Amino acid sequence: MSHKCPKYEDVLLSFFLPIKSLNESVLKITLWKIFSIAMHSSAIIKQLNIGVKSLMTRSNIMKTLGQFIVEKQAEYPNAKGELSGILSSIRLVAKIIHRDINRAGLTNNIIGGSGVENVQGEAQMKLDLFAHNTMKQALISREEVAGFASEEEENIVIFDTERGRNAKYVILTDPLDGSSNIDVNVAVGTIFSIYRRISPVGTPVTLEDFLQPGHRQVAAGYIVYGSSTMLVYTTGNGVNGFTYDPSLGVFCLSHENLQIPQDGRIYSINEGQYLKFPQGVKKYIKYCQEVDTETHRPYASRYIGSLVSDFHRNMLKGGIYIYPSATNYPNGKLRLLYEGNPMAFLAEQAGGKATDGYTRILDIQPTELHERVPLFIGSKEMVNKAEEFMQESV
Ligand code: AHG
Ligand code: MN
Ligand code: MN
Repeated sequence: MSHKCPKYEDVLLSFFLPIKSLNESVLKITLWKIFSIAMHSSAIIKQLNIGVKSLMTRSNIMKTLGQFIVEKQAEYPNAKGELSGILSSIRLVAKIIHRDINRAGLTNNIIGGSGVENVQGEAQMKLDLFAHNTMKQALISREEVAGFASEEEENIVIFDTERGRNAKYVILTDPLDGSSNIDVNVAVGTIFSIYRRISPVGTPVTLEDFLQPGHRQVAAGYIVYGSSTMLVYTTGNGVNGFTYDPSLGVFCLSHENLQIPQDGRIYSINEGQYLKFPQGVKKYIKYCQEVDTETHRPYASRYIGSLVSDFHRNMLKGGIYIYPSATNYPNGKLRLLYEGNPMAFLAEQAGGKATDGYTRILDIQPTELHERVPLFIGSKEMVNKAEEFMQESV
């Protein structure tokens, strides 16, 4: 490696040199070493971002999300390309939010609270609103959906243009999941869920189009903005994950046909709320903590506080995520339409399971746009076990 000093070293030196006791050449070497380590680490993380094994190189061209969408559409000769168009809009949204999250620390336009509360009385972060508007504008500008609902907006948004009235799909979103983690550089996500409308095409959509049980979803997915940005989605035929290569601006198929391990050793729950949990959940937590070599207990407790990130980790490694009811949250905290249903669709499509402790999430008939639901989701064996404790404690 060349030891030629880059410009930013000179900038940093100017901060240290006024301290007279410091020797300039020692300082230069030390700083250069720090830069080298930082640059190396960053390069390694960027390699990880696009999967070292499947790096997009001249000799290994990976399938891109765009190509994948086109190929999938070709499998349905009658498809008019609307769903493909919506997925392309979401891909664009993912790139925009990725870009802005990556410079969140550099501008106070992005981090911090917006000073208002959302319809659920939760503090809205600037990035919540930013992500919400980005999603809404991307869908409006391409006119591929008939209507839109978001965790950050009280009512449904009807796309009442000629194309909107003739569109077949509605989309629901949690535009920024785990937003309280933004200010501290921790992974967050975007969740989306797509349904075919039930009202007649050619008319404006109605609330009923959005209040469909989750098993009617046509597609669902999330974007996780972590050490790499990944878009993971299903159209009801398995789950595929695409890792973003920022240098090329493309999502590459890095995780084909994702499967959640049937059993796992990670449980994710906000244990600080333990005393407020139902008896079945308390017993399940104790079960996770008991020592039993045959079942590899105690399990590891891992809780990021971003559903998308916790779910994503558990999907790859095996585990269970629980946000149960609690004395202060009678139906849990997570929202059925924006969080529960899309994640449940993904979990089932990857061979996992999602329930509210008793009932399959995807079978719940929603009655309100912003309703909440307790969520037990992840590896099938673990969810079954947690359900056993819930049912025994009724
Ligand atoms: P959102 O940022 O969309 O409101 O979602 C936050 C959710 C979920 O992502 C996370 O797992 C959970 O809230 C964390 O809640 P607690 O802080 O109560 O554990
Ligand atoms: Mn959320
Ligand atoms: Mn959110």
